[in-house]
Amino acid sequence: MSDFNPQDHQWMALALQLAEQGLYSTDPNPRVGCVLVKDGQLVGQGFHERAGEAHAEVHALAMAGEQAKGATAYVSLEPCAHFGRTPPCADALVKAGVSRVVSAMQDPNPLVAGKGHQRLRDAGVSVSYGLLAEQARALNPGFCKRMEQGLPYVRVKLAMSLDGRTAMASGESQWITGAAARTDVQRLRARSSAVVSGIDTVLLDQAALTVRMAECGLTAEQQQRRGERQPLRVILDSRQRLASQPQCRLLQQPGPILWCVDDRNSSPNLVAQVEALPLTRLPQGLDLTQLLRELGRRGCNEVLVEAGARLAGSFMRAGLVDELWVYMAPTLLGSQARPLLDWPLGSMSEQQRLQIVDMRALGDDWRIRAKVI
Ligand SMILES: NC(=O)c1ccc[n+]([C@@H]2O[C@H](COP(=O)([O-])OP(=O)(O)OC[C@H]3O[C@@H](n4cnc5c(N)ncnc54)[C@H](OP(=O)(O)O)[C@@H]3O)[C@@H](O)[C@H]2O)c1
Ligand SMILES: [Zn+2]
Repeated sequence: MSDFNPQDHQWMALALQLAEQGLYSTDPNPRVGCVLVKDGQLVGQGFHERAGEAHAEVHALAMAGEQAKGATAYVSLEPCAHFGRTPPCADALVKAGVSRVVSAMQDPNPLVAGKGHQRLRDAGVSVSYGLLAEQARALNPGFCKRMEQGLPYVRVKLAMSLDGRTAMASGESQWITGAAARTDVQRLRARSSAVVSGIDTVLLDQAALTVRMAECGLTAEQQQRRGERQPLRVILDSRQRLASQPQCRLLQQPGPILWCVDDRNSSPNLVAQVEALPLTRLPQGLDLTQLLRELGRRGCNEVLVEAGARLAGSFMRAGLVDELWVYMAPTLLGSQARPLLDWPLGSMSEQQRLQIVDMRALGDDWRIRAKVI
């Protein structure tokens, strides 16, 4: 670690802005940006666009050419030191003659953390890190958590009335929130590796759970980088009710589906886009910890739970939620309507405290982002 000057802050902020351009397309890789600065002038910049393609540093070095010699590189994540699908960026920076590297954070993978920085130092490059680290981490919460714990970062999204209700007793729930909130949810889906829901939401709401590009409000470049890719749709269905509903909207939409079923029963083959995942059945339902481990193993960084009170409640009860995204609409659904979470708590000592980290208006609705603490 070392002290950073105001220019360092400014250049790193630019590297983070660049990284953010990969928000919807780098999965399962992290979003990373890089800026090369020489004599106070920007000489190169770039960001990681898609997995399997060049890392941010490679784009910035290509732009800088000869001017990289003696330059400072600002990167939002420690440069890699390993041969993956591309050669190590630490070596590329050394070869180009970069004299100083400033990283926002170390690589969160404990097996490789610090190795890129060491490789640079060994080659005589001056290295410091920890500048705007919190912001850098916030760009890649899922990648960081998966590297550290093998688990994805879990957001539970719910639309509720001002009286905290999510559906009528009959199951009817469309629509509680307005168009702006629904567009916001589309963007949230688009940045997620997987969208998890329960079979009741799939059948009652005829939820497709897909990203509809036209509704996301992404820039043309973001859309193009992302392409037609859909998040993995994960459906919890211990009794295999999906098998008798071939016409449901979920199955009519393109994109892979992970169909979670009770491992004590054999599951029939559905259409090719559906893969059955047998899970242990616990008293609450299918084992959600086992599911998240499997999603982590498959490279899922950010997981969005879009379900009703039952499944959302199970995730909360199991202590598997990182953030709640509640879209609150100016309406009342009355005391017979379904709660936010099926989660009976007996005493004040059992309450779950949250930290509200952001709250904003979306059309006539409000979006509340709360972290589970
Ligand atoms: N306001 C909103 O944001 C929102 C969002 C989505 C849905 N909804 C509404 O919510 C209602 C449906 O919600 P829901 O809570 O009844 O159903 P859900 O959350 O969609 O799915 C629950 C179903 O998932 C299966 N499941 C498997 N493992 C589970 C586990 N560990 N924990 C919980 N469930 C598990 C169970 O069916 P099996 O026992 O058959 O496996 C269970 O009945 C609908 O009325 C819908 O309109 C509202
Ligand atoms: Zn790299």
